[in-house]
Amino acid sequence: MFEGLVKLRRPAAPTTVPAPAPDAPRVYLQTFGCQMNVADSDLIAAELLRAGFARTEDLDAADVALVNTCAVREQAEEKVARRLEELAAWRRQQPGRVVGVTGCMAEHLRDELLAIAPGVDLVCGPDSYRRIADLVQQARTEDARGPLFDLHLDKRETYEGLDVSPGGDGVSGFLTIQRGCDKFCTFCIVPYTRGRERGTPPREVLRAARAFAEAGYREVTLLGQTVNSYRWQDVRFSDLLRAVAAVPGLERIRFTSPYPIDFSADLIEVIASEPKVQKHVHLPLQSGSDSVLTRMRRGYGYAEFVGIVHALRAGDSDIAITTDIITGFSGETEAEHRATLRALEECAFDGAFTFKYSERDGAKAARDLPDDVPEVVKQRRLDEVIAIVRRLQLAKNEAYVGRTVELLVTGQAKRGGQLAGRTGTFKQAVFADPTGTTRAGDLVRVRITGTTSATLRAELVR
Ligand code: SAH
Ligand code: F3S
Repeated sequence: MFEGLVKLRRPAAPTTVPAPAPDAPRVYLQTFGCQMNVADSDLIAAELLRAGFARTEDLDAADVALVNTCAVREQAEEKVARRLEELAAWRRQQPGRVVGVTGCMAEHLRDELLAIAPGVDLVCGPDSYRRIADLVQQARTEDARGPLFDLHLDKRETYEGLDVSPGGDGVSGFLTIQRGCDKFCTFCIVPYTRGRERGTPPREVLRAARAFAEAGYREVTLLGQTVNSYRWQDVRFSDLLRAVAAVPGLERIRFTSPYPIDFSADLIEVIASEPKVQKHVHLPLQSGSDSVLTRMRRGYGYAEFVGIVHALRAGDSDIAITTDIITGFSGETEAEHRATLRALEECAFDGAFTFKYSERDGAKAARDLPDDVPEVVKQRRLDEVIAIVRRLQLAKNEAYVGRTVELLVTGQAKRGGQLAGRTGTFKQAVFADPTGTTRAGDLVRVRITGTTSATLRAELVR
């Protein structure tokens, strides 16, 4: 059944978004949080453009300010709250201005949000974007009759059929293939803010992938909270990866984030054998201690996790593996923490996102488990984790020095008039192009000449 889909070479639907009228109301859209929020903001922007709004990066020129938010840690919500305070002042400067909050924090706090941010006209969750243009329009005409709420979570919403207008940088795009999460890790708010897991139909994924290719993109990253748990009828995630890899024009396929125990043999095989599937896997461990993993209800023990790491490296010895770590989860003892430090060394990760446990109202742990590790201890453990991660990262990067690799050029580097690019293994590299002919989106061969823990230095190989 899926073969038919792979062979289907229908051109992507042309983008139907018209150029905005000169007097179109202007929307300023700011994104906080994960890649999925970046992709959701592109979807919101496309819907608004289609309804006759214009987008602006200049807040002072805007009529509407939307903030697409994250609720995964308290810090993320505090950042948004500070921004909403500024936007409340902006809103008071001119009558008719509208402020809207979308995404996970809207869904998490609901009307409590108004206590934190009184100057908000519109509050809508991650499954309301099909209606976003109407909602904004309504908020603009409601004349201070109180904020509008649309927080309904719809277990079928995948935004199927909406216009596909690739946002982002023109080189590397995000493509959401799965929404929600069914895993209910005890620390995590995502299943409550994004609702039940559901996959986008493969036909729709391929339509979006072709739209990216036709817009000149070279790389797409397939997104889902547990992206490899994807299933649509008899289509497995590995089938979908192969199908996306077959889209002409796309040179690099990535995915994030997989759920460790849903790494099936067929998926490991596709990663090893399909050249366009890049050799980097972000594999969130969270903790190296079995008892902590049990309290987190992650569904695996440490030995199982290591088994997956070995299987991935057996498929490709060069594969980069990065992870997420939480320090100071409920009841975490010094011995449990040391198990995480050992795990970092043993798994020799290429990098990690590291977090202090942040209790989230509504998540299971907030109800059942005390947030009992003192802040200073969480911080000290985090510092110890970060020190190891930096050392491992530097060692991994040093092993690249002298090698010749392919980079996807992403644009100008921040400093020194150089260009920036990424290896297939997702390492950042900078290099000079004396000829000035290299462009963003080019695939170039470079030799690695040096490194820091964050960035490789490279020179073009002609
Ligand atoms: N499945 C998603 C998880 C989204 S949250 C993914 O793999 O990307 C991303 C990371 O944030 C998690 O892996 C976890 O390490 C961290 N995180 C989530 N909830 C947290 C909390 N309450 N406190 C601290 N870190 C948290
Ligand atoms: Fe959160 Fe666990 Fe899902 S971390 S997003 S509940 S896999």
